[in-house]
Amino acid sequence: MTERTLSIIKPDAVGNNHIGEIIARLEKKGLKVVGAKMVHLNEQKAQQFYEVHKERPFFKDLVSFMITGPVMVMALEGNNAIKEYRDVMGATNPKDAASGTIRADFATSIDENAVHGSDSKENAEKEISFFFKPEELLSRTR
Ligand code: CMP
Repeated sequence: MTERTLSIIKPDAVGNNHIGEIIARLEKKGLKVVGAKMVHLNEQKAQQFYEVHKERPFFKDLVSFMITGPVMVMALEGNNAIKEYRDVMGATNPKDAASGTIRADFATSIDENAVHGSDSKENAEKEISFFFKPEELLSRTR
């Protein structure tokens, strides 16, 4: 089933110049970039994006980290894109991430964990529309 999911390359990975290596891994998995931009979130935008976590103890630190530098946001498309991308990302905590996954190789802690990915179809739709206007999402005609 063709799906779309949202990917964020977080400020740590952007700062470490790992954008290209991360995208290369997605593309090798067959995921296609159908929308992409760099943004520097402000506090309000970061709080809105992570609203589901607002009661969690890590919320404040998460928001502070996400505004430390620009992020790369991408809409990815592919067969079972949500699960495929979660598989390439690896576990949220890099200590638990399988070897060869993005987080195992590029993340330094559960807070600075290199990438974000949507966890369900419903959230993927919400998260993609948070960052992209419909006309910024392109059909991969080839
Ligand atoms: P992400 O997939 O972007 O979603 C929420 C983020 O909160 C998560 O990645 C982690 O970077 C961060 N976080 C920090 N502590 C925790 C925790 N205990 N459980 C889940 N996420 C956490």
